[in-house]
Amino acid sequence: MTSRVVLSPDEMPKQWYNLAADLPKPPKPYLGPDGKPVTPEMMSAIFPMNLIEQEMSTERWIDIPDGIREILMKWRPSPLHRARSLEKALGTPARIYYKNESVSPAGSHKPNSAVAQAWYNKQAGTKHLITETGAGQWGSALAFATSQIGLDCKVYMVRVSYDQKPYRKVMMQTWGAECIASPSDTTETGRKILAEMPDTPGSLGIAISEAVEAAVSDKSGETKYALGSVLNHVMLHQTVIGQEAKVQLAKFGEKQADVVIGCAGGGSNFAGLAFPFAADKIAGADIDIIPVEPYSCPSITRGDYAYDLGDKSGMTPLMVMYTLGHDFIPSPIHAGGLRYHGMSPLVSAAVNQGLMAPRAIHQLECFEAAVTFARTEGLIVAPETSHAVAAAIQEANKATEEGKEKVIIFNLSGHGLMDLKGYQAYFAGELADYELPQEDIEGFLAGIKGFPSVD
Ligand SMILES: Cc1ncc(COP(=O)(O)O)c(C=O)c1O
Repeated sequence: MTSRVVLSPDEMPKQWYNLAADLPKPPKPYLGPDGKPVTPEMMSAIFPMNLIEQEMSTERWIDIPDGIREILMKWRPSPLHRARSLEKALGTPARIYYKNESVSPAGSHKPNSAVAQAWYNKQAGTKHLITETGAGQWGSALAFATSQIGLDCKVYMVRVSYDQKPYRKVMMQTWGAECIASPSDTTETGRKILAEMPDTPGSLGIAISEAVEAAVSDKSGETKYALGSVLNHVMLHQTVIGQEAKVQLAKFGEKQADVVIGCAGGGSNFAGLAFPFAADKIAGADIDIIPVEPYSCPSITRGDYAYDLGDKSGMTPLMVMYTLGHDFIPSPIHAGGLRYHGMSPLVSAAVNQGLMAPRAIHQLECFEAAVTFARTEGLIVAPETSHAVAAAIQEANKATEEGKEKVIIFNLSGHGLMDLKGYQAYFAGELADYELPQEDIEGFLAGIKGFPSVD
């Protein structure tokens, strides 16, 4: 009775899947400050042209260069597990599967895109890459990727995570990257925010502004910026996850998945698993696809579907997404990677077009689910991932009530071995649930009212 399917390295996908090719309604263009669609040239200040082409592509399949596959094959294809012990503990007729992205060197799905972005930058002549990181996972993934490919790397890490997760910083240093707490005094954005709010926990929006500012202020053209989520090319790079998972589910003898789940911060691990299944749904399959977010940072479940900036100070184009407004400062929950004001434009479009049904879950239920998972399946998951575990348990319990043998698959986006402070706080009873008051949401959203409307 197998509970794990591992593919051989040469079964790793040879192409990425682009949902933009199949969405019933095409995604809206990014807009510049003048309200006109941004051109590739405008984006070339921060990204190399080869990645901009991917960002704007509507090709269904894009080849994965061998140089990228070789590095990914150090840990890919990742295993697909059946959570038999969890199923037994829940007494559910559902069959629960999880795709284990925690096996990468940095411990999450993030290197899938970090390696690709570092590789394309190297091809384009970039020497230095600058980025930001929420929980530290993306920063350590890019530090790993740049060390493999031979680029310098600087990471702005959101202050609260910098303090909560000191060993992520050590990981980045070990791979040769520099890690700076954000807001910092190394950029104009950082200095301005520190002057206004010296004790701010920071936010991803602020860290993105700092990283972009630092990248564009090097006029040599050798410094570029890399983003770990949200953008189309990042979603694309993650689709190896769902493609592998479909092959592995078939090897388990499953004809199709009934429920597909991923936690969603900027949307990348969720998209990576879900988009290849969304293609089946567009073609007529009956699948519930669920992005899960924190109750305290409910961009998809309570935000507006609108044009907004990807960062705090307007360094990015305007993108159509579910958003709480770029001024939003989330509460310092332990799932640092889910504290983002917006959501990937592609995930947002798919939700808006009815392909996906988002859900928000409170922090305490997520930690409870993570502890149940650790005590049954053994793995200690990242606080971000605990949202997917909690939703999988909710769905399994629903299947029990309905007496249905559903096939549930979720993405185990990362391990939590660098996040034990969150578990410690949970066991000490120090964590609380937090629901964002409606008037706060309306206050933050007031900041986007002057932007162009979606239709
Ligand atoms: C383990 C893990 N899962 C999920 C996320 C959320 O990011 P995304 O929505 O892009 O997958 C993060 C972000 O840092 C993460 O570290």
